[in-house]
Amino acid sequence: MGPQSAVTSRYQESVAHYWDQEKNPVNLRLGDVDGIYHHHYGIGEVDWTVLTGPDTDREARVIAEMHRLETAQADFLLDQLGPITETHRLLDAGSGRGGTSLMAALRFGCRVDGLSISGKQVDFANNRAEQMHLAGKVRYHLRNMLDNGFEDGTFQAIWNNESTMYVDLDTLFAEHARALAPGGRYVTITGCYNDAYGRLPSRSVSQINAHYICDIHPRSGYFSALAANGLIPISVVDLTAATIPYWELRQQSSVTTGIEEAFLTAYKEGSFHYLMIAADKV
Ligand SMILES: C[S@@+](CC[C@H](N)C(=O)[O-])C[C@H]1O[C@@H](n2cnc3c(N)ncnc32)[C@H](O)[C@@H]1O
Repeated sequence: MGPQSAVTSRYQESVAHYWDQEKNPVNLRLGDVDGIYHHHYGIGEVDWTVLTGPDTDREARVIAEMHRLETAQADFLLDQLGPITETHRLLDAGSGRGGTSLMAALRFGCRVDGLSISGKQVDFANNRAEQMHLAGKVRYHLRNMLDNGFEDGTFQAIWNNESTMYVDLDTLFAEHARALAPGGRYVTITGCYNDAYGRLPSRSVSQINAHYICDIHPRSGYFSALAANGLIPISVVDLTAATIPYWELRQQSSVTTGIEEAFLTAYKEGSFHYLMIAADKV
């Protein structure tokens, strides 16, 4: 936790370490397809013909298809931000290797800031922005999203793309509400566990928590923490059915990480959802 660090606890230190050393092919080889690197999952119909064509380039076809579905997920998130102009500013909280921020800058032409507690990810993402000639618009910072360092009301929109499960939601949404402009939009896509299935995470959800060193929140936790911080939901979409085909393809790919079965079990038994929530700051 030295001066070059954004972490404030030993837990966060372990999360930063995880992402600093993370080099899973499922992230790197997919990002190599077009230079947009994601650390999130995919949505949409799978083109299953990728499995049936010639053996010689089957693997490349599967990887390109998974990348297409992960990019579709980020496009769907950006669709929820509302009208964004070139003068607006956007914040990508927990920005990973930076893919969603780059897509936002290309789509809206505005300034985007990304935050991660992993210095390796921040360097990687800034290099990508440089190589894509977007460094004037997109900046990644080694900062904690619970204390983002930006002035009050800076951002028209803030999102968390699969990064809320590492933090306390009340603290996170209080910080987002502070940094959002009045009427600004907050969007998250996240896995959350189903309160109606049980009061505690299921075995498969607990396996996912252990795999990623995270703490998946219950669905109820999002709505109570949003309301407590003046963030009023405008749209909620259950993406669970839309993400299952991605996981089924991933399970048959060469870039499995061993967590595929737990995700498929959790979604199919109903203990876990993949949710998009959009809310406005009032
Ligand atoms: C699953 S990755 C998602 C990355 C990215 N949003 C994407 O969609 O590709 C989770 C990210 O959250 C970041 N993270 C976790 N806790 C954080 C915190 N307290 N402040 C900032 N970033 C954090 C990790 O460093 C990692 O980049």
